[in-house]
Amino acid sequence: MSPAAPTGATPLATIAVLGAGRVGTAVARRALHAGFEVLVAASGDPADIELITSIMAPGARAVTAAEAAASGDVVVLAIPLGKVTSLDPAMLDGKIVIDAMNLWAETDGAMPALADVASSSHLVASVLPGARLVKTLNHIGYHDLDTDFRPPGALDRRALAVAGDDSGARAAVATFIDAIGFDAVDAGPLVAGLALEPGTEVFAGVHTRAELEALLGMVVRRG
Ligand SMILES: NC(=O)c1ccc[n+]([C@@H]2O[C@H](COP(=O)([O-])OP(=O)(O)OC[C@H]3O[C@@H](n4cnc5c(N)ncnc54)[C@H](OP(=O)(O)O)[C@@H]3O)[C@@H](O)[C@H]2O)c1
Repeated sequence: MSPAAPTGATPLATIAVLGAGRVGTAVARRALHAGFEVLVAASGDPADIELITSIMAPGARAVTAAEAAASGDVVVLAIPLGKVTSLDPAMLDGKIVIDAMNLWAETDGAMPALADVASSSHLVASVLPGARLVKTLNHIGYHDLDTDFRPPGALDRRALAVAGDDSGARAAVATFIDAIGFDAVDAGPLVAGLALEPGTEVFAGVHTRAELEALLGMVVRRG
């Protein structure tokens, strides 16, 4: 099965997940359930993550990060923020890339480079200048990915915001978010991702589309 595509765009078929930890394998499970082909990579030899991948995301294929990035229609970054500089920027040139990362002091330390940028996603964008970057999935716990998904139209469907400077990439990522069981709220440019970071109300809570739009200060007219 190949899930839907945003209007006028190439259908999304393959999801690449960089990071085989808590978030990476949870996103992989949702993507598999939605019918995508899923590739998972960590920083090393795929053989090292074959077992964990087969247990945590059965059906996903463990590959190298370069193979995953080359084949993914969307590439999900589910690695510690402090490791982003270990990625090869060339492999993500032109790719639709989800930034699911947060600054987590216990893991990442203080990261002084963040003082020079508007948000953690701007740091990611500076490291990966060719990526079509969209921030989302950072404001849902990995365990909630397994429980909070709902079919389209469910009254209690949880919403997740997408923020990025490339509107085509935002639309594609919104399609992915919808396919894995969540309403996608288009928050606009990458800087809007500040409202999704740790310490914000969006990050701390669980919200429907209307609630999330209200929190993001969006004026929305319906029907
Ligand atoms: N935990 C949550 O509920 C949650 C929710 C939303 C967002 N986040 C964010 O999501 C990110 C991942 O969190 P997590 O809890 O999943 O971390 P985790 O369980 O520690 O997993 C991190 C994974 O990234 C891999 N990795 C590190 N460098 C890599 C590289 N250069 N290329 C490919 N893979 C690499 C690690 O494997 P190797 O070291 O073996 O390469 C590991 O598989 C963090 O930025 C976190 O802040 C977490």
